[in-house]
Amino acid sequence: MTTTDPRIAWVRSSCRLLAAIAEEYRDTRPFAGLTIGTGIHLEPKTAALLETLHDGGAELVSTGNLNSTQQQTVDHLRGRGITVIGGPTADPAVHDRDLREVLDARPDLLLDNGGDLFARYLEDPYEGLRGGTEETTSGRDALLPLRERLRMPVLVINDSPIKQFAENTHAVGQSVFESFLRITNRSTGGKRVVVIGYGSCGRGVAAEFRGSYALVTVVDADPVKRLEANLDGYDVRDREQALRDADIVITITGRAGILTAADLDLLRDDVIVANAGHLPWEIEVDEWRSAAAAVEPSTPGLETLRMADGRRIHLAGAGHMVNLAGPAPLGNSIESMDLGFALQARCLEVIARGDYADEAAGVAACVVPVPRSIDEAVATGYLASVAGVRV
Ligand SMILES: NC(=O)c1ccc[n+]([C@@H]2O[C@H](COP(=O)([O-])OP(=O)(O)OC[C@H]3O[C@@H](n4cnc5c(N)ncnc54)[C@H](O)[C@@H]3O)[C@@H](O)[C@H]2O)c1
Repeated sequence: MTTTDPRIAWVRSSCRLLAAIAEEYRDTRPFAGLTIGTGIHLEPKTAALLETLHDGGAELVSTGNLNSTQQQTVDHLRGRGITVIGGPTADPAVHDRDLREVLDARPDLLLDNGGDLFARYLEDPYEGLRGGTEETTSGRDALLPLRERLRMPVLVINDSPIKQFAENTHAVGQSVFESFLRITNRSTGGKRVVVIGYGSCGRGVAAEFRGSYALVTVVDADPVKRLEANLDGYDVRDREQALRDADIVITITGRAGILTAADLDLLRDDVIVANAGHLPWEIEVDEWRSAAAAVEPSTPGLETLRMADGRRIHLAGAGHMVNLAGPAPLGNSIESMDLGFALQARCLEVIARGDYADEAAGVAACVVPVPRSIDEAVATGYLASVAGVRV
């Protein structure tokens, strides 16, 4: 397959599950006559998913997420006949307009990432939306209170055990670690790394830094998670004590206001702070900038807040997801995305066919995990095609 972006060709050739699904879809065309609206990162890996859905006969109307859209991917998708609304932006107002324009096409299915599309759909509902998928934890949390109003199948990819361990733990851990090295070019051995949030993502981040000789401290609001971190061998402390000693701080909770202006006094000189949670709200970046005596650009992907007492606090990626920030960001591994996107394709397929609605209707089908049968089929497919395991 020819493409103007060599990374897209590499990704497509590495996504073996999606390649097999695309081949099947070219025959079965499960989305023929349907429009899928998507609001997910537009970068080479998602291009492979969108093209697979396109191969299945879908009309696609797509926009990206805040601050992660890659122009080359947009150009590539447009060249393939996929409608892409907008382009790279970090402006929430522009992003909001782009999402609404996706909904103006009145898609039959939505592929959402963060609950953006479904929430806006409820502001101005239209006939014919069959349901769709939500990729993230943050999106599930945003959509759960809306179940009664949505009353349609919304399958949460993040709640698949496959997504939890393959992407959240293994891949996010690796890519956050890779991004730290790529952006800062600093070592991790002997450094005190504080990971705030020991969910499925934070667990992988902590493991990657520990595997590279850092001294990792875990902070979590949930005592059960703190216990798990303790039994996993991490230093577990209260946040204030942890922040005072940190060389590197990474937030990955999915919650707002994890690091506030009040925390600036706790941080020591030369600390590097990054967020890996989905939304750029875990660190109160504007308040931090306002509290600094000066804000200076640093190496690409970092800015340095100079405090009145002379301390330097380095902030990665302006508080956006660090594994999509800085020069030449790669995001999560191709294999993890191949698995997650195979789940996406199969979930959209059951909703398109109406199979899922038969099994569980209305609220009972809304904002629920991936059906077990899909998890099993995707796991078996991966083991056979990538790992060569046949059981
Ligand atoms: N960067 C990426 O590539 C990527 C990929 C997948 C998910 N995510 C995002 O990462 C975030 C975390 O996802 P997850 O699946 O690990 O979620 P999770 O719910 O499994 O874990 C979140 C953890 O944060 C803890 N927490 C919540 N509030 C806290 C607080 N105030 N202080 C300390 N700890 C707190 C929770 O107790 C929980 O253990 C979400 O925003 C998710 O969308 C990012």
